[in-house]
Amino acid sequence: MLSQADNYLPEHHIVVLFEKPGQLAAVGLSPIEIGYVEKSVTDKKREIALNRFTHWVIAIQASEGFTDAGLEKIRRSGAIAQGILADQKLEKVQITDLTGSESGLFALTMGICLANYRFTRYYKDAQAKESPLKNIEVIGLSGIALEQLRAIVQAVYTVRDWVNEPAASLTSVKFATELETLAADVGLTFSALDKKAIEGEGMGGLLAVNQGSTLPPFLVQCTWQPTNAVNTKPIVLVGKGVIYDTGGLSLKGTEDSMDYMKCDMAGAATMAGVMATVARLGLPVYIISLMPVTDNRLSAASYAPGDIIRMHNGLYVEVANTDAEGRMILADALSYASRFDPELIINMATLTGSASAAIGNQGVVVMGTAADEVFALLEKAGYREHERVVRFPLWEEYADLIKSDVADMKNVGGRQGGAIIGGKFLERFVSAPFIHIDIAGVAFSKQKNSYRGKGGTAMGLRLLYRFITDYISAAQRQ
Ligand code: BES
Ligand code: ZN
Ligand code: ZN
Repeated sequence: MLSQADNYLPEHHIVVLFEKPGQLAAVGLSPIEIGYVEKSVTDKKREIALNRFTHWVIAIQASEGFTDAGLEKIRRSGAIAQGILADQKLEKVQITDLTGSESGLFALTMGICLANYRFTRYYKDAQAKESPLKNIEVIGLSGIALEQLRAIVQAVYTVRDWVNEPAASLTSVKFATELETLAADVGLTFSALDKKAIEGEGMGGLLAVNQGSTLPPFLVQCTWQPTNAVNTKPIVLVGKGVIYDTGGLSLKGTEDSMDYMKCDMAGAATMAGVMATVARLGLPVYIISLMPVTDNRLSAASYAPGDIIRMHNGLYVEVANTDAEGRMILADALSYASRFDPELIINMATLTGSASAAIGNQGVVVMGTAADEVFALLEKAGYREHERVVRFPLWEEYADLIKSDVADMKNVGGRQGGAIIGGKFLERFVSAPFIHIDIAGVAFSKQKNSYRGKGGTAMGLRLLYRFITDYISAAQRQ
């Protein structure tokens, strides 16, 4: 679907990136057309579509250059171009560049490809709902950049498919199987603890959350350990895999977005997407992902407020609210991660409505105990990919809020600082430098949002992919 072309063919539909309108002569625009483009581009409208009868030319001005902000403008213009092409029912487009900026061309193609995603499985006439644009050719991207782009787009599509799939069909069993298939496809080592093994490990949190479900829990592990890895101790990625979150006995109300709680496994899905990208591109990094997978359902057997649970690391947790289930299953996975003696643990979860309340969908909330330089790398990656991060504190006083009268801790604090309390809870289960990323505000979008689309966004994937590549480069420089 995404391929490389050697040079621009006249008579093909093209999307072309330029800085000065005069450059457009190179793709055959006449002086009159160039004058029209010059007159038409403004700060707000950088995409000028020309119907040349036999083909369309969509000229996109990189008017803010190739800074982080400029690249985001280009991605968004890519999404607009995709919309124009799709409206015209065009099947094939060539993307070309007159600016000489590979990052600009990369961003443009990314915007077009990510905007071209559709989730069509559940339409009787699925074909009619698919994007007409089937064939995207890029001119002028290096082979390596094209491979990266393709791997990222493919992973984003997979993650979005998983997040969009209803819980009734993407059950815990199905999700674990899908992860196994993906791992085999890309060359990751796969293993999974089943319910018996989870019992054997004493993962009380994962088992408690699973109690109300008719389907079993899993702890899925994927490993990538190439011989040329820059690190000897692994990076461990942990992702929340709650297939569906009803809240359990602390049942969600209508205001609590139960309608889209099929997205509650977005953390696990995104971590799997990151792993697949790393493997497909053969990155020299030793990395492991752990995905605790279960439903949070309501039944006579459900765990209940007031229960006290013995967790994998031996701590006892008083369940004050069964809707704070993510931290219960993640805590066990984080504790399990210790056995790998990680150099860094990154957790990703749709953990709290508070994260969403705090910063909306313009970024993700992060916090943790990793070194400031590591957070600086993450922040830089966030700006680069426009998956921006906001660091919240984990000050020790917050721990007071999850003190329990009957156990080591309880699973919720008060109403205030909810995202931090979630992080503070998880911190008790890690024994390595730690980053927690709360994606509750961004994992699922009810409205169309440029190239992020509608439904599952896979946001966090490009952030972590960029972070990991920068992390590798930093290690190689040392
Ligand atoms: N899965 C939810 C968080 C969530 C909210 C994800 C909105 C996506 C969109 C999580 O399990 C949850 O229910 N959190 C509670 C925690 C509370 C009980 C401390 C919340 O945020 O209300
Ligand atoms: Zn919940
Ligand atoms: Zn949840």
